[in-house]
Amino acid sequence: MADRAYLDHAATTPMLAEARAAWVAQSMRVGNPSSLHTAGRAARRVVEESREAIAADLRCRPSSVVFTAGGTEADNLAVKGLFWGRRDAIGARRVLASSIEHHAVLDPVQWLADHQQADVAWLSVDEQGRIDLAGLASELAEPSGVALCTVMWANNEIGTVQPVARIAEMCRAAGVPFHTDAVQVLGFLPMDLTAVGADAVTVSSHKIGGPFGVGALVLDPAAKVVPVLHGGGQEREVRSGTLDAAGIAGFAVAVAHAVAGQRERAAHVLALRERLIAGIRATVPDARLNGDPGTGAEERLPGNVHVSFPGCEGDLLLMLLDAAGIDCSTGSACTAGIPEPSHVLLAMGADPALARSSLRFSLGGTSTEADVDAVLAALPGAVERARRAGTLAHRAG
Ligand SMILES: Cc1ncc(COP(=O)(O)O)c(C=O)c1O
Repeated sequence: MADRAYLDHAATTPMLAEARAAWVAQSMRVGNPSSLHTAGRAARRVVEESREAIAADLRCRPSSVVFTAGGTEADNLAVKGLFWGRRDAIGARRVLASSIEHHAVLDPVQWLADHQQADVAWLSVDEQGRIDLAGLASELAEPSGVALCTVMWANNEIGTVQPVARIAEMCRAAGVPFHTDAVQVLGFLPMDLTAVGADAVTVSSHKIGGPFGVGALVLDPAAKVVPVLHGGGQEREVRSGTLDAAGIAGFAVAVAHAVAGQRERAAHVLALRERLIAGIRATVPDARLNGDPGTGAEERLPGNVHVSFPGCEGDLLLMLLDAAGIDCSTGSACTAGIPEPSHVLLAMGADPALARSSLRFSLGGTSTEADVDAVLAALPGAVERARRAGTLAHRAG
């Protein structure tokens, strides 16, 4: 794989050697963190030290860190758990959710609507993917029926960063619990969870160089959450299940690395992002950059480049680039093999055909100029071939 260019860090990023070492070292020790004997207590110590380190890095209290088996589980716990908690406490059934959430939030919200009588308000976004704060304010004007609000910190497809501290403040003033999915943010933007003041924040280990299958919901201990998983009562009875001490140890190392190197990493990927955008504009002049067009990191994730190539099918372009040694993504889900236009781009008002013509290149700490240049070398030919295939298919159809 060494000769390939990997530009899909938003999907997952290489595991750090230090995280792997911590993970492997703990995996070689026996002990259930809930056991009372010496081996169990040693595993428990690893979990609690990791919890404290993660809390210090994210600037929250250790008691807020609820370990889960990744971002998807943390999102499900936040959305369903907060909904059930507020429904049981005050009968609230309204859910405020942005229309551009990752499926790990979108689908639980829709499931609550389909199976639990939730009444969902999908919050609209503008053409750059930024949430309509006036619309949110009018939803919050009647807070008594609102169970929760969930708005992702930064979008995984188009990289747009939301004003989460402002949204948290609006929700707090209305007394409505607020959850934000920060999976794509950790390691790329500063994260001070005390300053942000959300009730629940999702983070995931494999997006920052830790092992797969571990993450956390940083949950205000005062928040009323009904568990999704019932069992042994671990994690303050909020998330039952034997704790993965090895995964958690690796995750803590990855969080420390993500936070300590955040500024440098952001500057590194930002420079590569601008090189890639400038190169795409020069070689495929009608390509369209989606999301916030700014050149800073505050409004758009510094490692995100999301582009539409009019006249191309994104899936075909992805395969052509794959054959040329480049790993990237369309960013959108594929239903039963049929490429669907991204719900994110549709919510931003994009035409479905243009939405289907899109690719996401996402950069990470290990990305290099050579990766960017490999894309720029392969892209014009791939776009031309994809356009020709599109024209032929159109004629044949
Ligand atoms: C914004 C966002 N939320 C949640 C997830 C799911 O996280 P995990 O892969 O840890 O389940 C992802 C992963 O793609 C993501 O990008």
